[in-house]
Amino acid sequence: MKCLTVELGERSYPIWIGPGVRQKLADLLQQAGIAPGRKLFVVTDQNIAPLYLEDTVQLLTEGGYAVHHFIVPAGEEAKSLAIYEQIMTEALTIGLDRKSAFLALGGGVVGDLTGFAAATYMRGVAFVQVPTTLLAHDSSVGGKVAVNHPLGKNIIGAFHQPKLVAYDTNALTTLPPREVASGFAEVIKHGLIWDASFVTWLEENADGLQAFDHELLQAALLRACSVKVAVVSQDEREQGLRAILNLGHTFGHAFEALTGYKGINHGEAVAIGMVAAARLAERLGLAENISERTVRVLRQYRLPVALPVPLDVDEMLDVMRRDKKGEGGKLVFVLPTAIGKVDIYKNIEEEPVRAVLAELYEGGEA
Ligand SMILES: NC(=O)c1ccc[n+]([C@@H]2O[C@H](COP(=O)([O-])OP(=O)(O)OC[C@H]3O[C@@H](n4cnc5c(N)ncnc54)[C@H](O)[C@@H]3O)[C@@H](O)[C@H]2O)c1
Ligand SMILES: [Zn+2]
Repeated sequence: MKCLTVELGERSYPIWIGPGVRQKLADLLQQAGIAPGRKLFVVTDQNIAPLYLEDTVQLLTEGGYAVHHFIVPAGEEAKSLAIYEQIMTEALTIGLDRKSAFLALGGGVVGDLTGFAAATYMRGVAFVQVPTTLLAHDSSVGGKVAVNHPLGKNIIGAFHQPKLVAYDTNALTTLPPREVASGFAEVIKHGLIWDASFVTWLEENADGLQAFDHELLQAALLRACSVKVAVVSQDEREQGLRAILNLGHTFGHAFEALTGYKGINHGEAVAIGMVAAARLAERLGLAENISERTVRVLRQYRLPVALPVPLDVDEMLDVMRRDKKGEGGKLVFVLPTAIGKVDIYKNIEEEPVRAVLAELYEGGEA
């Protein structure tokens, strides 16, 4: 079991990573200042509940906590105001107070939704992340929590840091292959924005990692999380540097929104978005020869590198202009300048973006 710390003064917290971390959950909670006797509200989804809810509740109950739980539907659609309201109703009905804590047992969807509920319930209560997906190495760290609006992804949200992240790599063994690939998209992203040697390592260890070699997996998660921790510790509320974590996301969010958050999952959308960002950087003369390697490493991890359905270019541009990073309707992008290096570009002209988008459909002429 390995530990990283997000250094944010009095909001600092540990990230425990390793096989069997969940077994120590009650102790870790206590160490994090959430004392036994307090009420814990465990939120999970319909797929995770039959696998990990019962033993998690039992471990916490044995640790002296008063545990309640709530199961939301699986999938991105659960990150909605409607489900958020159901969580609030349940929390009030079971009598949670300001001393209670919310615990997200699940992937990025459950984490973002539960975190937003915790950020707003009685103006904010304690919150713990117990990630169960590979992608959640990213979503569980850094305190960005949100629900979606039909007009935009993660548009209703807050910054609310967890007290603890307890990441049990044993839970990853039940993930469907497509979700494994999706998680690797954000792992690869952490290499592409920060550390070329990590990208090389991911290329060299693609087979072992996808065979779930535990040592390799733990090493990959530690390295990817370390990048996120370094960035978030320097810029908690995205005043500058933190925006680099959004590589591929301005594009990706548009793909997700326009496919109704169905059909393409988050990691897949980010993968296609990172290809688009590399091509845009090349077109603008900011980088050379990076899209080919970007495509290759994503393919190694069985990720899509083109849109599986045709999307309307004007509609994609409209969604991208509404993106939170946008200022006054201008297009803002995180673009690679080399493998392992990115920069933030404001005021990008529309024409080159159009050209990249027009060639992104896999059935197209690209
Ligand atoms: N807050 C952030 O900083 C941040 C960062 C990255 C992504 N995100 C968000 O994360 C979300 C995507 O997260 P995700 O990919 O984890 O999706 P997810 O939470 O929907 O999980 C993916 C699927 O796997 C299932 N599942 C989860 N754990 C499982 C397990 N151990 N075994 C079997 N099945 C399991 C889930 O039920 C779901 O069907 C998006 O909404 C994205 O916006 C947030
Ligand atoms: Zn993401």
